[in-house]
Amino acid sequence: MDNQPKAEIQLTISQIYFANLHLRPNTMSVIIAPSILSADFSYLQKDIKMINESKADWFHVDIMDGVFVPNISFGLPVVSAIKRHASKPLDVHLMIVEPEKYLSAFADAGAAIITVHYEACTHLHRTIQNLRQLGVLAGVAINPHTPINVLSEVIANIDVVCLMSVNPGFGGQRFIKNTYSKISELKHLIALKNSGAKIEIDGGVDLKNAAELVQAGADILVAGNTVFSAANPQEAIATLKNTHGQLV
Ligand code: DX5
Ligand code: ZN
Repeated sequence: MDNQPKAEIQLTISQIYFANLHLRPNTMSVIIAPSILSADFSYLQKDIKMINESKADWFHVDIMDGVFVPNISFGLPVVSAIKRHASKPLDVHLMIVEPEKYLSAFADAGAAIITVHYEACTHLHRTIQNLRQLGVLAGVAINPHTPINVLSEVIANIDVVCLMSVNPGFGGQRFIKNTYSKISELKHLIALKNSGAKIEIDGGVDLKNAAELVQAGADILVAGNTVFSAANPQEAIATLKNTHGQLV
């Protein structure tokens, strides 16, 4: 990855990731990424506006192909439509086989962060290189059964590691508790390899487990059901955003 335009990438990373930097230079609040999967698809613009006007940082956009996961969500035209109205970065989570075929299409559709699954990439190193060349943040997700150490040779080149805390495919599932020990292992690996990767938790995040996740080391919380089933979604987002833990 030595031939990459590093200055340009760094600028993109700071613009997107550090958009919510507080006045304290070495600390940062947790990034909240509501998952559009749980939004009202018949009136998506209303939910996009709600997120625009909330304390959320990113839009989490789940792409499911019915092959890698047993469910189909939506595709590129919907991502482009979300992009037209969203005022915050799109965090696109590809739960699809052969994601390398679609990276540039999702970048063109407006993704700022693209996350591929380790389990879906035969040539993960090359896929990460391609993401870098596209100028988006490079994310890698791992399923609940996948150990952290499979990332050891690529962690230094990843911007976001997405730890699946449910088996991917559906919103509203129960949080899997082995995630806590995986966060701790991942933190060690990140430190060992001097990586700048941030830790994203996806699945079953709620108002009860958010604090423990942030204390364990989570940098980014995805929340679908918790936000969209709340009586007041913006309040739920604000509560998640105010979660206190050990800041990085
Ligand atoms: C699951 C998706 C998640 C999902 C999270 O396959 O990757 O992003 O939308 O939804 P909740 O927060 O409802 O578990
Ligand atoms: Zn997701």
